[in-house]
Formats: sequence, C-alpha cells, structure tokens
Amino acid sequence: MNDIMVVAGTRPEIIKMAPLIRALQKNKIPFTFVHCGQHYDYEMSQQFIEELELPEPDYSYKVKAYSQGEQTARIIANIERLLKKTKPALVLVEGDTNGVLATALATIKLGMPVGHVEAGLRSFDLRMPEEHNRRLTDHLSTYLFAPTKNAESNLKKESVWGKIYVTGNTVIDAVIQHIPLAERKSKVMEKIRFEKFALATAHRAENVDNPPVLKNFIKAFTEAPIPVVYPMHPRTIKRLKQNRIYQKIKRSENLQILPPVGYLDFLTLMKKCEIILTGSGGIQEEATTPQIRKPVLVLRLSTERPEAVEAGFAKVVGTEKQNILEAIEKTLENKGLLPTNSPYGNGDAAEKIVEIIKCELSL
Ligand code: UD1
Ligand code: UDP
Repeated sequence: MNDIMVVAGTRPEIIKMAPLIRALQKNKIPFTFVHCGQHYDYEMSQQFIEELELPEPDYSYKVKAYSQGEQTARIIANIERLLKKTKPALVLVEGDTNGVLATALATIKLGMPVGHVEAGLRSFDLRMPEEHNRRLTDHLSTYLFAPTKNAESNLKKESVWGKIYVTGNTVIDAVIQHIPLAERKSKVMEKIRFEKFALATAHRAENVDNPPVLKNFIKAFTEAPIPVVYPMHPRTIKRLKQNRIYQKIKRSENLQILPPVGYLDFLTLMKKCEIILTGSGGIQEEATTPQIRKPVLVLRLSTERPEAVEAGFAKVVGTEKQNILEAIEKTLENKGLLPTNSPYGNGDAAEKIVEIIKCELSL
C-alpha cells in the first residue's frame, strides 16, 4: 500500500499532528510528512519539529504570504504536484488554516481521500478566514475526526458527505506528552520579570489587522491589574510596527513581550500564569487539561470552542478595553474551582484516529 501523507504548515498544526505522527510510528504505518510552508520562520515552524522530536519533513515548502488567495493557490499547486508523484493512500490535514483547505482541495480534485483532524468546529463568524477553511474542508473530507459530540452535531446538521468519528482533540495528547519534558527542560521562568502574571497571545487577523482593536488589546494589557507576559506572533509584531506602537510598548512596565516561544516554554508559561488572555484556538483547549487548568478570557466576539466555555474554563469577553479589564479583575477575584476533566478528551485522540485509519484502510 502507498504511504499515508501527513500535512502540516503552521505552528498549531505541527503541535497537534505530533501525537498522530508518533501513533503512526508506533503502529508501524508508513507515512510521509509534508510541511506545506505556510509558516516559515524558525520560531513558528522548525523550532517545533526539533523540540517535539518529529522526523524532518520528507517534503518541505516555503510559501511567503502574499494575499490569502495567492497563499492558498500556491499551496494547492505545490501539493497537487506532490500528490501526483507520491499517490498517497490517504492525506491527513489538521485544523482550519489556508494550508489545510488548499491541501484538501488539491487532494480531492485528484480523487484521493482526505482525513480531517479537528473537524466540525464552527464559530459562525464569517469574517474569519478559519471559518471558511474549516467549513469547506469538512465538506471535502472522506473521514472527519470530530473532537467532541458538539463538533459531530455541527457536521451532522450540515449533512457532510464523509464518515464522522468522535475522537477527542490531539492537542490534549500533545500537552500530556510534553508537560513532563517541559518541567524538566524549560528555563523560561528565569526570564520572566514577574512572580504572578497573566499570559497573553493575540494574532487573529480580524483583531490585529484592525488598528482600533489592536490598540484596545495593548491598552488593556498595559493597564491590566496584573502584569502581562506576551509571546508575540509575527503577524502582530508587523502590525504594531506599522502602527508605530511596538517601540513604545516594549518599555512598558506592566508588559513583557517575548518572541514566539517554543512549546515547552509555552506549556510552562501556561502552567505558571494566573490567567490566560487569548484569541488562539489551541490555547483555549490546552487550558482545560488537568495539567494546566487555567481560566481563559477569549479576546474575540465568538469562539468555535464552546465546550471550554460550557465547562467553565473560558469566557468570551470581546475586544473592548473596558470589558477585558473588568473580566480580568472579576476572574482574578473569584477564582472558582475549575473542572478536573477536559471536554476535549483524555490524551488518546491520536491512538483512536490511527485505529480508525487502520480499520478504514484495512491495514
Ligand atoms: C495562520 C492561520 C491561523 C492560525 C495561525 C497559527 C489562516 C487563515 N490563518 O494565521 O488560523 O491560528 O496561522 O499561528 O490560515 N509570518 C511571519 N513568519 C511566519 C509566519 C507568518 O513573519 O513564519 C507573518 C507574515 O507577515 C505573514 C503573517 O504573519 O504575512 C500572517 O501569516 P499567515 O500564515 O498568513 O497567517 P497567521 O496570522 O499566521
Ligand atoms: N504556542 C507556542 N508558543 C507561543 C504561542 C503558542 O508554542 O509563543 C502554542 C500553543 O501552546 C498552542 C499553539 O501554539 O499549542 C497555538 O498556536 P496559535 O495560537 O498560533 O494558533 P491557533 O491555535 O489559534 O490556531
């Protein structure tokens, strides 16, 4: 049988595919690993391949982001050429990036099967490119690995063509597999200026590409009732520089800006912080693991992760400075007990997905 192809292109895809790659290796299932090149900086890409001890990609591209359309089109063209050459038995994609949609589209147009890991998430916010990508990818996929019952129900409502399986989210596997390593190896706390701090990340296009929202975030972080540690995504650095804010905030006493940090350091920061302020998807999930268990304020108008909200971990607080500040204060004052279980599974999602693949492909 031909190999399975595992495609990743951005930081979260590498992290969430890592447990799946390990499960394929453990089950001795031949696969090729492809980096479609949406992220290309060392800190956003290769750093994770090395730190997570993944095999070097068999094929690797670099697609500097021109426009969304051009980025997507270039990945389609690259992946199509590769698929014609390698003819994989199945192509696995994860999440909702432009690279995911591009890969799924190239694959299905050649009549090859697609497996979508983390299928069925919906923010119902059509301003978000991720919402276009996940909806379209789900409708192109042969196998849909939904992390939760809620995601499965979204897929059923839309009558997707592929077969749906509920598996949990591989990010929980990733946290469980790496927390012990983080505890042993990470030295990030030596760099942190504060004893108690909030951990912030923000990179969603609909937020940081909108100057008033970007300014709201920065004001909220610099005026927050607790110091803020902020590992910054390159998109955000670029926007802050364009808006001439970056140099000013680098000197702020209440804010410590870091470059994008490695996974072991980020896990450590999540574990040590008091509260997480984020627009990130994966972080909303990771915060629910028993190993981290932190309150999250979602700096967006919507979330495609309602399970974290329902379980009491996350609160969607929008993008207004005053609302963010009030929510930080309230959350720090009333630190209720958070659940000890994650709604996204208990760390066996990758194994479950591999078992399903073995069955479906008669391996
Ligand atoms: C993308 C995904 C988003 C995901 C995020 C993970 C889409 C539409 N968005 O957003 O869902 O949450 O990745 O981090 O697919 N840049 C660099 N170096 C890099 C990567 C990006 O400098 O290695 C800068 C460039 O200026 C680039 C910008 O960031 O133009 C945006 O990169 P892009 O991959 O298009 O989107 P992200 O914001 O990273
Ligand atoms: N992350 C990291 N270093 C950072 C910021 C995030 O390792 O400086 C990890 C984080 O733990 C999570 C993933 O990157 O697993 C989230 O990526 P991102 O926020 O870029 O994307 P999203 O999840 O929003 O798609």
